[in-house]
Amino acid sequence: MYNISLSKQDITEREISAVTDVLRSNALSLGPKLPEFESKIAGFVGAKYAVAVNSGTSALHLCVRALGISDGDEVITTPFSFIASSNCVIFERAKPVFVDIEPDTLNIDVEQIEKAITPKTKAIIPVHVFGLPANMTAIMKIAEKHNLVVIEDSCEALGAKVDNKSAGTIGDCGTFAFYPNKQITTGEGGIIVTDREDVAQLAISMRNQGRDEGMGWLAHSRLGYNYRISDINCALGVVQIERIDEILAARESVAGKYNSLISEEIPEIIPLCNPPEGMSRSWFVYVVQLPERFSVEQRDEIIKHLRSTGIWCNNYFPPIHLQPFYVNEFGYQKGDFPVTEKVSEHTIALPFYNRLADNDVEIIIKELKKKMNGMM
Ligand SMILES: Cc1ncc(COP(=O)(O)O)c(C=O)c1O
Repeated sequence: MYNISLSKQDITEREISAVTDVLRSNALSLGPKLPEFESKIAGFVGAKYAVAVNSGTSALHLCVRALGISDGDEVITTPFSFIASSNCVIFERAKPVFVDIEPDTLNIDVEQIEKAITPKTKAIIPVHVFGLPANMTAIMKIAEKHNLVVIEDSCEALGAKVDNKSAGTIGDCGTFAFYPNKQITTGEGGIIVTDREDVAQLAISMRNQGRDEGMGWLAHSRLGYNYRISDINCALGVVQIERIDEILAARESVAGKYNSLISEEIPEIIPLCNPPEGMSRSWFVYVVQLPERFSVEQRDEIIKHLRSTGIWCNNYFPPIHLQPFYVNEFGYQKGDFPVTEKVSEHTIALPFYNRLADNDVEIIIKELKKKMNGMM
């Protein structure tokens, strides 16, 4: 029985010592590690402002609120994502309007966005799925033409680039997430990056119960939340972002090992695409697509088999529009977004993390190949 997990954080003695220092201090929350973490992230991505919060979902929610998206507004986004990228719109009683994806990049199909725009459309939320930026050049042109705001869900794409600009810094605002499966982790956490002072100020206030700077603890200017992130989490994040080059290189190297073994051993499998001209991918997960002749039941059987051998894998992503809540609430049904559905039925996320050993990648591919061959 193997024991290869799907993802794993990469924590060194430096992180442990930084967290311990905070624990020995008198500032577990709203202390000096919060602005330090924010300024390091802002510096890394090249944004004027960074506002750290307790999750990627909170970051998305505050972007939606700060941009004034509310009752009855429509927001165009992708159904092939993690559910938070469209739930954040529903929190404010607006409606996510899905547009299908491109079969190669797995990102929102920019050719189909304009057809989905109505007088109620207020925003676009492109998601940089699996760390590959969506076509931001086209999206920004459409947004400008139709006077829409853009929130980049960059939660999976810290370090990805579009024409030398960081993913997350091209729209009105962008978000990153720091759950332990992400490129860097704070345990739980997220951050908003933006060049817009108004968005940053509103986010700072709303993450902290609607207080404004200089106000007392029990004075509240607007509706707010407790979306604060502790200094313990931020101390972890500071060391992680300082290690970002090493982390991204390690991930790239593991992905390279998978790519070359797959092309030698199971060439009919479809790995994630190479980035289009001018873009780079920040490796988040290692997802492959099985050939079309495999049914969804067979895909699930492969996942079940790999798990039974101790190789942890998953069916990233089931389409959002087919989640029970979305079917009940909006009446979406099978067939609405055929590319998303087809891709979704064939994908498997294989174990992927910084220190995944070459030997383990070999085991994973050997077991996958054996199971696939046994199903022919
Ligand atoms: C695309 C995307 N958006 C949003 C999130 C939400 O982040 P969090 O889990 O930190 O709330 C995730 C996390 O997996 C994600 O992958």
